[in-house]
Amino acid sequence: MDHVEAALFAAIFLLSAALLNHLLTGKRRQNAYPPGPFPLPIIGHLHLLGPRLHHTFHDLTQRYGPLMQVRLGSIRCVIAATPELAKEFLKTSELVFSARKHSTAIDIVTYESSFAFSPYGPYWKYIKKLCTYELLGARNLNHFLPIRTIEVKTFLEALMQKGKTGERLNVTEELVKLTSNVISQMMLSIRCSGTEGETEAVRTVIREVTQIFGEFDVADIIWFCKNFDFQGIRKRSEDIQRRYDALLEKIITDREKQRRTQHGGEAKDFLDMFLDIMKSGKAEVNFTRDHLKALILDFFTAGTDTTAIVVGWAIAELINNPNVLKKAQAEIDKVVGLHRILQESDGPNLPYLNAVIKETFRLHPPIPMLSRKSISDCVIDGYTIPANTLLFVNIWSMGRNPKIWDNPMAFRPERFLEKEKTGIDIKGQHFELLPFGTGRRGCPGMLLAIREVVVIIGTVIQCFDWKLPVDDVSGLVDMTERPGLTAPRADDLICRVVPRVDPLVVSGH
Ligand code: HEM
Repeated sequence: MDHVEAALFAAIFLLSAALLNHLLTGKRRQNAYPPGPFPLPIIGHLHLLGPRLHHTFHDLTQRYGPLMQVRLGSIRCVIAATPELAKEFLKTSELVFSARKHSTAIDIVTYESSFAFSPYGPYWKYIKKLCTYELLGARNLNHFLPIRTIEVKTFLEALMQKGKTGERLNVTEELVKLTSNVISQMMLSIRCSGTEGETEAVRTVIREVTQIFGEFDVADIIWFCKNFDFQGIRKRSEDIQRRYDALLEKIITDREKQRRTQHGGEAKDFLDMFLDIMKSGKAEVNFTRDHLKALILDFFTAGTDTTAIVVGWAIAELINNPNVLKKAQAEIDKVVGLHRILQESDGPNLPYLNAVIKETFRLHPPIPMLSRKSISDCVIDGYTIPANTLLFVNIWSMGRNPKIWDNPMAFRPERFLEKEKTGIDIKGQHFELLPFGTGRRGCPGMLLAIREVVVIIGTVIQCFDWKLPVDDVSGLVDMTERPGLTAPRADDLICRVVPRVDPLVVSGH
């Protein structure tokens, strides 16, 4: 073979190899769906699902890669588990993934009028604007600061009582009371705990709602089951809806009567603001009484448990990591001192406390997966994602990924103060840490939640040492999660507090 022939032969070989490679990888992936396990007829991969969906998906992505698909009955789902993929889905293709899943339970319970589950359209845009600039904007949050301050003080006082007697404390219960009181005071000017039995009932309903929204209804995912209620989900949803509706109707009707006798005046809570909007007829979209009731439910379900959950996890981690508790107390003692109680405005001056909060969100995001639905076909990472695919971005899994975080299972807030991770925040710009989601569909309650979380975690660290109950010999707090849409602790956190700074004695609020 002379040189010319050899060169020709080599060129043909290289060209064929390149063509073959293109056909086998690039070309194939353009038209291929993401990988995943072999589906069974009719049920798809339903048989693989465990009670905690984010755990199941985490395990599956270890086997099939960080972008994979499963079928739940007839519904196609994709799972993404790296920051790069999260960015591609939620930023680069944001508009395609701007819808959310629907289910029979959601439709029944929310009068088919929810904001959180509404499609990306005029109604969603109108309420989003209202949330961002009015309801949950900085001005309104400042307006409601005195309410939050009083509620936090009441909470600390309840803890102090237990601390002084050395009794066991159910901190989960106290946290849910606190966060529900904050939201219900802002929305309806009533407290969810205390003397009013009906508001206690609202809280019970909210718990049931978050649980039922997290369940998969066979009727929604297997077409020939759509007229059956095998799991009793429809019946339970109707029951929840009836009870919630009765409670809310009474609250709204009472307020309407009150407004008829008191003419004018400044709106004092969200309910007043909404009733003003309805009365003025100036809403940019059709805003009915059902929309109003659904929105109140949205705020209750999205804004109470989530905040209580993350604080509960933070306290559990602090009990299991006393060195972190000591370090956070030292910072607060230095910056705030022992003669006044920490306030929301101290937040920016407490870098270690902020690192504790980030570390808690990393390991325990209260909403473990961001779930969206595609409204049109698109291509992600070379794979075809058809319209109406459910997307799950598993942020719980990303928080545990050793390729992103050194020694990920260790609770080590210091990582956020080290050079490499120091700029990372939780506000949706850093795709490795997205506890509030990101983009247009990100959490509108984030500012409120961050203010609450800073002041609650900060004050419980400042005022108390946290320990296991005397008769608990396990040595460590159990960190198992409960199944559902959110990821709370499996059991209420029962512990013991030892007072350090008495909120009854020192001032500052
Ligand atoms: C620690 C507390 C909270 C956490 C971790 C949290 C987390 C989230 C997440 C992950 C989403 C979905 C974001 C996405 O798809 O990109 C979301 C949506 C939402 N959150 Fe929050 N949230 C919290 C507190 C609140 C509060 C206090 C409120 C209101 C008072 C609230 C209201 C909402 C609403 C209405 C949505 C739906 C937004 C939409 O669909 O456009 N959240 N939240």
